[in-house]
Amino acid sequence: MSDGQDTNSQNKPTRQLTRDAKEIIIYFSRSGSTELLAAKLAKLTGADILEIVVDKPYSGNYHRTLSRANNERLNADYPELRMSLPDLSQYRRVYLGFPIWAMTLAHPMSSFLLEYGAALSHKQLVPFMSEGGYGQGSSVQKIAQLLRQQGVSADLYRRPLVVDGNKVDRADYQIERWLKNLG
Ligand SMILES: Cc1cc2nc3c(=O)[nH]c(=O)nc-3n(C[C@H](O)[C@H](O)[C@H](O)COP(=O)(O)O)c2cc1C
Repeated sequence: MSDGQDTNSQNKPTRQLTRDAKEIIIYFSRSGSTELLAAKLAKLTGADILEIVVDKPYSGNYHRTLSRANNERLNADYPELRMSLPDLSQYRRVYLGFPIWAMTLAHPMSSFLLEYGAALSHKQLVPFMSEGGYGQGSSVQKIAQLLRQQGVSADLYRRPLVVDGNKVDRADYQIERWLKNLG
């Protein structure tokens, strides 16, 4: 799943939008773990779902991705996206899903927040993530910082769902418990 041998970029981007949903899951996933987590959340909540797509996909090779990600970080050069944002006005709650990269948000989610942050104004934002065993790092603070930087005021939930990328298939109970606390 997250061994870097496969990549999510070959699949058709997920985009399931309905007229009546009040919640939407917006996520990025390179190797499929966050995508699986997003699919489980969608099933449990009935939320709409939208995948963040980068213009130039990350390599399926883990080391090549690591090296690209390091360069992007050093240069604060976040990737261009290739997607259109639907009208978000119907949604009260937005789940934001991403993998942890270098102890913080994966770059495509930073790109998304920089490009479309204004559309998240006054919504409840609920982060969830998959990671490789080192936890959430500074990801939630980074979301807050990117929004603040743009003057976006939103209600950011500070107790994210954090799941080991290799254990998403066994995380149902954890996800359900977290959702119950979220209310
Ligand atoms: C460039 C890169 C950096 C990563 N850095 C971390 C890290 O700092 N801490 C961690 O626990 N996992 C790290 N990981 C592992 C991913 O967070 C983990 O495999 C995640 O489940 C991948 O999600 P995805 O399959 O949705 O892309 C990193 C992975 C990549 C590709």
